[in-house]
Amino acid sequence: METLGTETAFEVLAKAKALEKQGKSIVHLEIGEPDFDTPKNIKEAAVKAMYAGYTHYTPAAGIPELREAIAEYITNTRKIDVAPDEVVVTPGAKPIIFFSILAYVNPGEEVLYVNPGFPIYESVINFIGAKAVPIPLLEERDFRLDPNFVKENITKKTKMIIINSPENPTGGVLTRDDLKAIADSIAKRDDILVLADEIYSRIIYEGTQESIAQLSGMKEKTIILDGFSKTYAMTGWRLGYGVMRKDFAQKVTQLMINSNSCTSAFTQMAGVEALRGPQGEAEKMVQEFKKRREVIVAGLNGIKGVSCKKPHGAFYVFPNIKKTGMTGRDLQELLLNKAGVATLSGTSFGRFGEGYLRLSFANSVENIKKALARISETLEKQ
Ligand SMILES: Cc1ncc(COP(=O)(O)O)c(C=O)c1O
Repeated sequence: METLGTETAFEVLAKAKALEKQGKSIVHLEIGEPDFDTPKNIKEAAVKAMYAGYTHYTPAAGIPELREAIAEYITNTRKIDVAPDEVVVTPGAKPIIFFSILAYVNPGEEVLYVNPGFPIYESVINFIGAKAVPIPLLEERDFRLDPNFVKENITKKTKMIIINSPENPTGGVLTRDDLKAIADSIAKRDDILVLADEIYSRIIYEGTQESIAQLSGMKEKTIILDGFSKTYAMTGWRLGYGVMRKDFAQKVTQLMINSNSCTSAFTQMAGVEALRGPQGEAEKMVQEFKKRREVIVAGLNGIKGVSCKKPHGAFYVFPNIKKTGMTGRDLQELLLNKAGVATLSGTSFGRFGEGYLRLSFANSVENIKKALARISETLEKQ
C-alpha cells in the first residue's frame, strides 16, 4: 500500500466540506465533474430498465446491447471498425486504467505517462512495481507532449504509453501530427500498447478529437478509454468502458470477474439510451462550458501574479502562478482557508505541475466570478 497514490481532489473536497460545516462559504473549483444534471431521457431509461428486471448480474464484459451500442459509437466517432467483443464495460472508466496496467505491465517494466496528468496513472504504475517514466507537458508547447521526448525515452523495457487528450488537468489537445509521431516511434514495437484516455473526447472547443487508434497499424496496439461520466454528466452512475483487441478484452474481462463481477445492470441500459438517444443536452453542456472558459481565463489573466492559457478541451484551466512566489500547495491552502475557494495545486497531477493550479470551470458563471473576485482580493493582500 506504501506505493499506491491517490486523487487529492477527493481530499480537498473533504476539507472544503468540513470548512462549510463550520459555516464558511466555499466556492468549489476542485472536483472534476459537470455541475449539470444527467439528461432526463437517460434517467428515465434507467428507471424503465429497473422495472423491466435489469436488477441482476449481467455478463462480466457488459450487456450485449450496450457493447453493440459502444462498438457502433466508437466506429462512427473514431472511424475505425470496432466489434462488440472488443468492448469491456466497467463501473466508471477508471478501472480501465487499473486493469490495463495490471493485465499488461510486469514489475520492473516501464510505462511512459503524461505529467502533469490524471494521478491514477502514476499511482497504479508504482503500485504494480513498474517504473513510471513521466512525459513532461510544458506550457510553452501549449501542454502538448513532445513526441521526440517519447521517442528518446522508449527502451527495451517499455510496455505502455499513456496519453490523454483533451487532457486533465491542462486542457491540452494533441494534434494528428503529434499522434502520428508517437505511432511512428513504436512502429517496430508490437509489444508496446498505448492507453489512450479519451474520456473528454466530446468536450472540445477548438479543433477536432483525433484518436491514435485511427492511424495505420495502431488499432491493434491501442486501448481506448472512454465513458459516460463527463459527456453525459453521469459521474455518480459509474459507467465507462475500454475498447481494445479481443484477446486483451478477454483478460480485462477476467479482471472484471475477479473484482466487480459486472457493472450495474440498469445503468448499462441507461448507457444505451445515452449513446443512441438525443445528443442535444450533451452538446448544450459543451456550449455552456465554452462560455465559462472565456470568463475564467479572462478573470485569471487580470489577477496579480497569475497568467492563464486558454484550454482547448475538458473543463479545467491550469494557470501559471509562479509570479506569486508561492508553491502550488501553499497557494491551494491559502485560497481554501482565506479566500474560500477550493482549487488544486498542479502538483496533485505530478511533479511537472509545480508552479500551476488547477481550477475546474464546471460551476456557474456566478460562482466563477465570485471565486475570481475572492482570489484577486486575497492575492492583492499578499
Ligand atoms: C483523465 C481522466 N481519466 C479517467 C477519469 C475517470 O472517469 P470515471 O469517473 O468514468 O471513472 C477521469 C475522471 O476524473 C479523468 O479525468
